[in-house]
Amino acid sequence: MSTANLLIVDDEDLVRWSLKERLSAGGYAIAESGTAAGALEKMSGDIDLVLLDIRLPDGDGLTVLRTLKAQWPETPVILMTAYSTVQNAVEAMRLGAYHYVNKPFNLDEVALIAEKALETSRLRREVRSLRTSAGREYGFDAIVGASPAMLAAKALMARIASSPASTVLLMGETGTGKDLAARAIHFNSDRAPRPFVNITACALPEQLLESELFGHERGAFTDARQQKRGLLETADGGTVFLDEVGEMTPGLQAKLLRFLEDKTFKRISGLTDIRVDVRVIAATNRNLETEVQAGAFREDLFYRLQVMPITLPPLRDRAGDIPLLAAYYIDRYNREFRTRVQGVTPEGIALLERYRWPGNVRELRNAIERAMLLMDREWLGPGDFASLARPVPGCQQFHLPPGGLILEQVEKDLLVQALERAHGNQTQAGQLLGVNRDQVRYRIEKFGLVKPALRPGREAAAHEEAAIA
Ligand SMILES: Nc1ncnc2c1ncn2[C@@H]1O[C@H](COP(=O)(O)OP(=O)(O)OP(=O)(O)O)[C@@H](O)[C@H]1O
Ligand SMILES: [Mg+2]
Repeated sequence: MSTANLLIVDDEDLVRWSLKERLSAGGYAIAESGTAAGALEKMSGDIDLVLLDIRLPDGDGLTVLRTLKAQWPETPVILMTAYSTVQNAVEAMRLGAYHYVNKPFNLDEVALIAEKALETSRLRREVRSLRTSAGREYGFDAIVGASPAMLAAKALMARIASSPASTVLLMGETGTGKDLAARAIHFNSDRAPRPFVNITACALPEQLLESELFGHERGAFTDARQQKRGLLETADGGTVFLDEVGEMTPGLQAKLLRFLEDKTFKRISGLTDIRVDVRVIAATNRNLETEVQAGAFREDLFYRLQVMPITLPPLRDRAGDIPLLAAYYIDRYNREFRTRVQGVTPEGIALLERYRWPGNVRELRNAIERAMLLMDREWLGPGDFASLARPVPGCQQFHLPPGGLILEQVEKDLLVQALERAHGNQTQAGQLLGVNRDQVRYRIEKFGLVKPALRPGREAAAHEEAAIA
């Protein structure tokens, strides 16, 4: 049960009374005042939310708002007025009001806005305490998320960090935080004073990757004029983060397996075994099990890596973390851009929670950054996230799996996803795929997709979308 303290300021007894009745049912403690002077007297750091009338017998609510915001900038204020004018609304938002309601209002609606306002300031406090307690840049606290799946993943990372486990496998879609997790594990282990090195299997041709990892002797190949130590040697005592392990060629997979099994390796063209003590954290955004079945990934290597698996959940499966992540990034970009964005409106949050986030946290971070760069607003709303309907290009997105694929199936899957994202709207789905409505319709028939069967529960959402647009 909530124990938030609310201050209601209105000169009409009936308004104060009905608000108090309704809001105290929500478990809030209520203080009240009928005047501007009384409001300032009752205000304190313990008040979590103010509901403020604009017309007060002894002054102007906007002046009270200005005074409140100067002294308690973090406390949300909801303005109420019967004298609704656009200027008032604009001025109220400019002065930092959380919301603006016109009288006569619906009590349930006000209660809902109050709840959201309290939630926002709670999140802001949580983010601030995260920041101050995250002494180290790569602490587990830098991994934002309070959903059960994320809490479980973080607990597992912490346990693995302090364990002697020499191999860890991080799985998760692109942008779910595998990089972040690898660093957190390293910097929270007793390997932290030793190097953390990072290499991506998809960025390099086989021979180069091999020489980067294992090093080479002089004359090993045409360009090898000098002997070179590989990353495994450089990282001795520390951690090697081997990203996109699913992209490794079969030859390199065999060499990696051998190293993981006996902790020794030879440089290219080298004769002596070199022994090092490194923890290998491998990461992949592919389903390695499927790759094993397709014969593209060695089964024995998979089982060797699989000893300590951590799966990072996609963002759409933990929508509850979206408000927290949004607050985290707003806070970060406020400091970076010297802006004063307060948060995302309830409508904006609803939109963010509905979106599927194929690029996960990275995409959310970019969406917030873009919104804050384009708009100097106090509150980000649905309009600031309009570009979310566009697909995100990514290095891995259209990668042909080693086992090949069935083009028609890919086409069908993408069509279904586009229709889902467009809530069944064929024109919008077509825009997402770069084809026109007729071409969408042609494919719907070709693949035998019946529109209403796609996502029956989406009807309501589709109407909402239409209302927003
Ligand atoms: N839980 C989280 N809290 C805060 N920031 C996060 C979180 N997860 C991801 N990020 C941020 O999102 C961005 C992408 O994360 P990261 O690079 O770790 O993803 P990844 O899983 O390695 O993706 P890819 O498979 O594309 O390499 C980074 O800026 C990272 O800081
Ligand atoms: Mg990564």
